[in-house]
Amino acid sequence: MPLQSILVVDDEAKMRRLLEIMLTQMGYEVLQAADGLDAIEALASHAVDLVITDLRMPRLDGISLLRQLREQHNEIPVIVVTAYGTVESAVDAMKYGASDYIVRPFEIDAVEAAVQRALRLGKVQRENRYLRQEVEQGWRGFIGTSSAMQQIYTQIEQVAPTKTGVLIQGETGTGKELVARAIHNASPRAQALFVSINCAAIPSEILESELFGYSKGAFTGANKERIGKFELADGGTLFLDEITEMDFNIQAKLLRVLQERTLERLGSNRTIAVDVRVIAASNRNPRQAIIDQKLREDLFYRLNVFTVVLPPLRERRDDILPLARYFLEKHAREFAYEFNDIEADAALCLTAYAWPGNVRELENMMERAIVLSGGKTIAIEHLPCDILEDKAPPQQSSCDPVIHAAGLNTQVELLERRLIQEALAKTGDNKAKAAQLLEISERSLWYKIKKYF
Ligand SMILES: Nc1ncnc2c1ncn2[C@@H]1O[C@H](COP(=O)(O)OP(=O)(O)OP(=O)(O)O)[C@@H](O)[C@H]1O
Ligand SMILES: [Mg+2]
Repeated sequence: MPLQSILVVDDEAKMRRLLEIMLTQMGYEVLQAADGLDAIEALASHAVDLVITDLRMPRLDGISLLRQLREQHNEIPVIVVTAYGTVESAVDAMKYGASDYIVRPFEIDAVEAAVQRALRLGKVQRENRYLRQEVEQGWRGFIGTSSAMQQIYTQIEQVAPTKTGVLIQGETGTGKELVARAIHNASPRAQALFVSINCAAIPSEILESELFGYSKGAFTGANKERIGKFELADGGTLFLDEITEMDFNIQAKLLRVLQERTLERLGSNRTIAVDVRVIAASNRNPRQAIIDQKLREDLFYRLNVFTVVLPPLRERRDDILPLARYFLEKHAREFAYEFNDIEADAALCLTAYAWPGNVRELENMMERAIVLSGGKTIAIEHLPCDILEDKAPPQQSSCDPVIHAAGLNTQVELLERRLIQEALAKTGDNKAKAAQLLEISERSLWYKIKKYF
């Protein structure tokens, strides 16, 4: 561990020297400054772990130094030194963010204890700041702290260092490609390429040559040699999206390449060694795809060494609002708008909606909401109509999906909101009659309308 360094600030050279001797003996590196201004200069050019400062000094005193540091968001721990009998000024300094004070004349043990405490505090603050940043940025670009997603993060960390094939399963827009990239980036292959190919978007004849490459004259139009995605991904990762849309013959060829770790370009019989990790994705259930003859069983077993099943957004509703805010901020930045907040009823709708298009649908909707609202506050009128109807997926229509997924408060609020809406519709917007129908006072109906609408 490198030496921790401490800046001693005092206008009296003797005091600085005394502290220097003590601190050097304790094993710290010591820098000196004669007043606050000197200290600020020293801090600008040296990495310092702790400041010990006198209070009364010419030019810039201890309190002013402390205030300047905190105004600059410099959270370096500061210990103030005070003479016996002037402890109040030290307590003052604590209000401005000093972490401790020591009283002159010093007891060496007291100095050592205070220094150790302050350095520990500084470390914790640094770590907290780092963790806070991590949470804000999300884990490897992922937003969402639901337990379902935590499990996904753990799985990514488990499988990344290995060479095994991975099959990612999940509905459209759940983040399959994001997971594939995260596995690549966390793997020893991160320096080589992550090559992605969408099997559904490319016709079979072309897919084969895209994957394996071809030699000159292999087919009409092949007027020069071309390497395929497999070779391109050598040393790295090949992501085969929508694997079940790949032609059966190509699946057989893929399996052979995976087993033998070699390939021949189309129209060539030169064998080329490839070292590629394959990650495949599908929005179908692979076992059903085998039954439907969309996926070869032998290939499935080869790829399915490790499976990641991404949960749909409606099964992790806690992630909806953090994701919404993240996308709102992202798109607000693009348009140079200033995003503030989501109004409570709009937030309620977002949480209740079934999200058939998952995270991608949420992102698109938030981009649109930013455009419609001009940034600032997102309200219900900035959301599309279908979300307001709270469309439940058909298999769950007998019981409201929200009732199972969202927290109790959200569920109660949603139900309340809906009943009020119905009562108002039935009574032609007559608040007094609606209140009667709901068996609540008119006053509390007003209150709820204000809250929800
Ligand atoms: N947890 C998440 N945090 C942040 N962004 C996410 C998250 N999940 C998905 N996204 C974003 O949502 C979009 C859709 O994700 P992605 O393309 O990975 O989904 P997919 O499952 O591959 O979808 P499809 O099946 O339609 O190809 C991307 O822009 C991705 O960055
Ligand atoms: Mg995808």
